[in-house]
Amino acid sequence: MDSKQIREKYIKFFVGRGHKEIAPAKLVPENDPTTLFTSSGMQPLVPYLLGQEHPEGKRLVNSQPCFRAEDIEEVGDNRHTTFFEMLGNWSLGDYSKKEQIPWFFEFLTKELRLPKEKLYVSVFEGDGDVPKDMESYEIWKSLGVDDDHIFFYGVDKNWWSRSGPPDKMPEGEIGGPDCEVFYDFGTPHDEKYGKECHPNCECGRFLEIGNSVFIQYLKRTDGLLRELTENNVDFGGGLERLTAVSNNNPDIFQTDFFADAIKSLEAIRKSSAPDYKTNPRPYRIIVEHLRAAIFMVGDGVKPSNKEQGYVLRRLIRRSMVQSRKLGMIGDEWLSNIFADLVTPYIKQYPHIDKNVPQINEIITQEVDKFRKTIDEGRKALKRIYTKVFGGIDPDNLQGNIIEGNKLRISGDEVFKIYETYGLPPEISQEIMKEWGLEFDEETMKEAMEKHRELSRTASAGMFKGGLVDHSEVVTKYHTATHLLHQALRDVLGPQVFQKGSNITADRLRFDFSFDRKMTGEEIKAVEDLVNERIKQDLRVDHMIIPLEEAKAMNAIGLFNEKYADKVSIYGVGPDYQLDPKALDQRDRGGYYSLEFCGGPHIEHTGMIGKIKITKEEAVSFGVRRIRAQLT
Ligand code: ALA
Repeated sequence: MDSKQIREKYIKFFVGRGHKEIAPAKLVPENDPTTLFTSSGMQPLVPYLLGQEHPEGKRLVNSQPCFRAEDIEEVGDNRHTTFFEMLGNWSLGDYSKKEQIPWFFEFLTKELRLPKEKLYVSVFEGDGDVPKDMESYEIWKSLGVDDDHIFFYGVDKNWWSRSGPPDKMPEGEIGGPDCEVFYDFGTPHDEKYGKECHPNCECGRFLEIGNSVFIQYLKRTDGLLRELTENNVDFGGGLERLTAVSNNNPDIFQTDFFADAIKSLEAIRKSSAPDYKTNPRPYRIIVEHLRAAIFMVGDGVKPSNKEQGYVLRRLIRRSMVQSRKLGMIGDEWLSNIFADLVTPYIKQYPHIDKNVPQINEIITQEVDKFRKTIDEGRKALKRIYTKVFGGIDPDNLQGNIIEGNKLRISGDEVFKIYETYGLPPEISQEIMKEWGLEFDEETMKEAMEKHRELSRTASAGMFKGGLVDHSEVVTKYHTATHLLHQALRDVLGPQVFQKGSNITADRLRFDFSFDRKMTGEEIKAVEDLVNERIKQDLRVDHMIIPLEEAKAMNAIGLFNEKYADKVSIYGVGPDYQLDPKALDQRDRGGYYSLEFCGGPHIEHTGMIGKIKITKEEAVSFGVRRIRAQLT
């Protein structure tokens, strides 16, 4: 079975059980300063798991592209990826264990036809005030899963929240005990990983393929857990892994997501470089990182030195380091690989498959930039070489490699070259090998470790510890963004539309369609108008109404029509609060601003205080960006 069939089967299965398919969120969450990437299907649904009404009802299903930067260094084995699709289904205060567990079991055994004997299950063993999950245990048994296939684990393995076990959950965070399902490939146990094999053993015999989280708890301000009264289920299963098990092959890089790209790489590698079977690691890193990069760029991320852009740059550079190991130095091979990597997503993600040339260009530019970095670093290495070997140019040895020479270059120097030119120690090492040099293994290892440590800390710093909920200041910025959107349309004209929005606790950033720089007067007029609406202390109303009705009211904003029949909209300033003569509000159901939006928002605009536009600049052709701050 290929991934497309499995995705379709899954959605159909849950739609058949009363679920509504919802659009996946973007990989870069909008208006959420707490995380850089969408890393699970539930992330965009947190407000609804906390009780807000979802326009599509209480049973939802989708396939959500996710990115987990913390796994970047794990990539290279047969199962880890940074980017993956998570098949998800949710109960928002509706069904619970006795529906979710049998449904997932039925999906695995009937739809994917996995033999029941190959499935193992883990259940929460209890901790503190949270009891052992005997209910789930009994349900698994009633389905015919044998006792010796059910394992109990504690908070480290069978508790899920976005920030881990209960003691790591910040105030206001939700989570709960979970049941994980594992597939047994039957491969022999490797004692390197412990005496006994078990579902959570790392030896490779078992692969986790699904996780049903029963979101029953909320972390209170006093640090204790509060039990939620509603039944919430958050299920997530990796599509790549489900595809691998449905083919009974533990290597997810042999699924349709990657197999063709790997074949293409094998065909274009230098003939002396190892094939996939001999050394799969470089192949896996290249295809995995490039696929993630494609999705990031498709969602508007550009390589840079901060936040998402930094992670993207790291992915591209890491894959280029590996491509050199296969003897691929240029960039001419990239477009073939992109085509292979995008093929499984045709029709599923039109924003990717329709934009391949643009995505290709952005990634190729970054690859070329990195090549220049390598050239500069190489020159620096050459200077050291030439100094040591009395003026000999190592690129001009014409086969007369100086055998047995130990270059007096220390790990420290290699690290300095990394710091000055950005040349990763791995590549310095590769260049030195090319020049036939032996080098000081020990200090080189230290340099590599130092480099790794630095990259790790740099990306860890990107994930500002823990997760903040929708804090008040962010919510204020969010409502201010709606006012700004409408004020821009009032001042510049109705051709202005939101193109993107990003809010942190320090500022708002709003991208919109407009084809020239705004004048100083226009900026002032927009700022004044927003501040006037704030001063009028307008009420903010939330409505869930049929899509057609929202369209008839001319609500504006970004939304995905394909999936919605009911939509969530926010209106700011019902007309009785405004001077009806000053505004033409008929277009917007009597509101000053009316937008498609999932919230959250503050209750009335007076809470915002005052805003100041700090910058107006171009983002790309026809798209401008405004930054503004609360003062
Ligand atoms: N949110 C759960 C997970 O990511 C399903 O494992």
